[in-house]
Amino acid sequence: MKINEIKTIGIIGSGTMGRGIAISSSVSGFKTIVFDINEEVIKKAEDSILKDLLKSVEKKKLPDEKKAEALSNLNFTSEMKDFSECDFIIEAAPEDIDLKKNIFSSLDNICRKDTILSTNTSSLSVTRISVFVKNNPERVVGMHFFNPANIMKLVEVVKGDFTSDECIKTTAELSEKMGKVPVIAKDTPAFIVNRIARPFYGEALKILSEGTSGHSEIDKVMKSCGGFPMGPFELMDLIGIDINFSVTKSVYESFFNDPKYRPSFIQKKMVDANITGRKTGRGFYTYDNSKK
Ligand SMILES: NC(=O)c1ccc[n+]([C@@H]2O[C@H](COP(=O)([O-])OP(=O)(O)OC[C@H]3O[C@@H](n4cnc5c(N)ncnc54)[C@H](O)[C@@H]3O)[C@@H](O)[C@H]2O)c1
Repeated sequence: MKINEIKTIGIIGSGTMGRGIAISSSVSGFKTIVFDINEEVIKKAEDSILKDLLKSVEKKKLPDEKKAEALSNLNFTSEMKDFSECDFIIEAAPEDIDLKKNIFSSLDNICRKDTILSTNTSSLSVTRISVFVKNNPERVVGMHFFNPANIMKLVEVVKGDFTSDECIKTTAELSEKMGKVPVIAKDTPAFIVNRIARPFYGEALKILSEGTSGHSEIDKVMKSCGGFPMGPFELMDLIGIDINFSVTKSVYESFFNDPKYRPSFIQKKMVDANITGRKTGRGFYTYDNSKK
C-alpha cells in the first residue's frame, strides 16, 4: 500500500490515545472511522474530541474551517465490520496481548489483504502481534504515538521481524502527513522512549515507597531543578496508572524479570482500586473532570 492510496483510516479504541490520534487523522484530511466497544464509550469520546477541537480553535491553534473539516471526516462505530473500507488501521485498545490477539484476528478477516494494520502498543512485541494476522503479516507495523497524541510530534515506527520495507515507508510517510516526526525503531521491548522512561517512573515510585519524599515534592524537584515539563507522578496520571502499570509489567517480563524494570506495589494497589489518574479524576493528584 502506497501513501497516496490511503484515504480512510480506522482507529480501534477511543480512549486517551484513540481520541488524540483521531484528531490528528481527521484534521489531516483523512476519512476517520473510530471504533469502540459500546455507544456510551463512543458518546464520551465524541464529546471529548469536539471539546478538544473547540479548545484548539479558541487558542488559535486550529482555523475554524479545519475544525469543520475534521468533524466532517470523523465517523464512529461499534461495529468492526465497518473497517472493511479502511486503507490503514491504528489499533489503540488496552495493553493486553489476548485482547490485541482477538482484534488483529478479526481485522485479518474484515479488512482487505493490503490494508496496513498498525498497533500503538507501548511495550508488546509487534512481531508477536503480526503472528495473529495470517494474510500478509508483512503489513503489520508499530505506530507508537505519544500522549497527548494530537499534540506530541514523535511517532516511533516499529519494524517487526516480518514487516516489509514498503509498509515502514508508508507508515513513516503517513506520520508526516499527520504532522508528526517519525523515527524508525526495531521491535525490541519498549522500543526507544518507553525503555528510557521506565527507570524514570520506577525510581520515583521507589523513592516514594521508601518514604524519602512525597509525590508532589518529587515532581517539583524534577520540574524546577531537572528541567522536565512534568514530574513522574503527573506524567503517570496523564498516561493512566493502569496503562503505565501494564507497560511496566510487560517490559519486566520481556527482559526476563530484570529487577531494573520490576513493577511497583503502589501502582498495583491504585489499579486494583480503580485510581487510574486523570481519566478517572483521581490518581496521585485529583482532577475535576466536570470542567473538561
Ligand atoms: N496512555 C498513554 O500515554 C499511551 C501512550 C502511548 C501508547 N499507549 C498505548 O495505546 C494503547 C491504548 O492506551 P490508552 O491509554 O488510550 O487506553 P485507554 O484505556 O484510555 O483506552 C482504551 C480504549 O479501548 C477500548 N477498548 C476496550 N476493549 C476493547 C476492545 N476489545 N476492542 C476495541 N476497543 C476496546 C476502551 O473502551 C477504551 O476506550 C495501549 O496499547 C497503550 O499501551 C498509551
